[in-house]
Amino acid sequence: MTTDATPPPSDTTPPATGLPPLITVDECEEMPLRRVHDLYRSHVNKSQVSLMTSFGFGRELVSHAEGSWIHTRDGRRVLDFTGGVGVLNHGHNHPRILAARRRFQEQRRMEVHKTYFSPYIAALGHNLAQLLPGDLNMSFFPNSGAEAVEGAVKLAYKYHGGKRQQILHADISFHGKLLGSGSLTGSAQSTFAFPGIPGVSAFRYGDLDSVRESVAAARDAKGRCDVYAILIEPFSASTMTECSEEFLRGLRELCTAEDIVLIFDEIYTGWGKTGSLFHFMRHPGLVPDVVTTSKSFGGGKSSISAFVAREPVFRQAYDSLGDAMLQSTSTTYYGFGEETATALEAVNIAVEDDYPARARAIERVLAPGLERLRKQYPDIIADVRGAGALYGIFLDGGPRMLDLAAKLAPGGLARDPLLRTKVITCAVVNAMYQEHDVYMYYTLNGRSPLVAAPSLVAGPEEVEIFLDAFDKTLARGMNRLLAAFLKDKAVSRWAA
Ligand SMILES: Cc1ncc(COP(=O)(O)O)c(C=O)c1O
Repeated sequence: MTTDATPPPSDTTPPATGLPPLITVDECEEMPLRRVHDLYRSHVNKSQVSLMTSFGFGRELVSHAEGSWIHTRDGRRVLDFTGGVGVLNHGHNHPRILAARRRFQEQRRMEVHKTYFSPYIAALGHNLAQLLPGDLNMSFFPNSGAEAVEGAVKLAYKYHGGKRQQILHADISFHGKLLGSGSLTGSAQSTFAFPGIPGVSAFRYGDLDSVRESVAAARDAKGRCDVYAILIEPFSASTMTECSEEFLRGLRELCTAEDIVLIFDEIYTGWGKTGSLFHFMRHPGLVPDVVTTSKSFGGGKSSISAFVAREPVFRQAYDSLGDAMLQSTSTTYYGFGEETATALEAVNIAVEDDYPARARAIERVLAPGLERLRKQYPDIIADVRGAGALYGIFLDGGPRMLDLAAKLAPGGLARDPLLRTKVITCAVVNAMYQEHDVYMYYTLNGRSPLVAAPSLVAGPEEVEIFLDAFDKTLARGMNRLLAAFLKDKAVSRWAA
């Protein structure tokens, strides 16, 4: 169905064959930006176009991308300092990942059919068991992070045979946007309350007493624990907050004592990003019951995720003939061939090229550089937090008038107590991109920082390019940055 009142004539004139006028892959390669915007407006999401272009993005198309660099169609070379929001530890189009996929295709390997066992699934499960500590031996491979989280939650529920009804998550958390994972997400990521799974409550992130209180509140009339799982990110990538070792070990003890399934969500932080293979692995001997991974697990090419469970937990939940198909092999794209082969290669690269060490090498340049800038611009940088190749910069400053404007705004996006933070951070992102060809990201919820998170294939020279651009940007002062941003008509639609 078409809602666009005035589609271009070529869309309306059926060709002589009588076939509908479908666009081909070849045509996409030549499609002008205007046409892409029009098609998005008509068939994808009109407001997405307005929002992105308002903030200076989506105004050009990408030709290709390699390593840490994006090349636009109009010839710009942009330093991608987003790390693909966790997806690109290997950078764009890593040659070994491309080769593994090409090989899979050229040999005409098979994607589907669960009745033929897959050597790729077998090998990936084996390799994860080799790399993860303790008896984290049993893997499940869906496609997205949210599916891995929900798979882990179902596993925990089934482990208790449906006898426990409560699940706890932290107030600081992001676990995905499906109905289940969304209801376990505590941070202000959503402006609309969708229904969720039952029995959910939140504890304060990193606060063991708060967890104990939540567990105590969830005892049944006979004093039995009713909590089947606790879900937490050991390092919260959306807020750059980290659990202390003491908290994580205390949580492990509590979960063991109460037989609660402890799930660590490392969907963002896995594969070296914060300086250890998984963030929790910097604490020797600490083993959750389940860990989730995705993003760079697919090497930047494959949409694959996993949960890996401790063997006794998995066996109790699913290891019977009646339950064997309940979770693991039942979804269409579970363990799809090329996706799994890609993940296998991605994991091997992360280990052979020592991605944790690469993240630590990046940190040795990035962390002191950001600290120097924080001291140099105390009125603009309120805080810098992070680990490895994942840093957040919390900005402040700009005219306080914006706070008043937000209070007085009649409604819409402008009536937002975090308006000033959002606008100044967008102004900096905009200047970095437009004037210095450095791409950073910022989640528009006002509580998340501006993120500096290069791919792990980035070298110190790329970190220096970023630091130099960031220094030059901040040196202009927040008011001038804001004026340039507004002149660009960037926020003209905010009050709409
Ligand atoms: C920690 C964490 N958990 C879960 C998810 C959800 O993953 P996906 O977007 O692939 O569903 C994300 C995504 O950003 C994440 O960072």
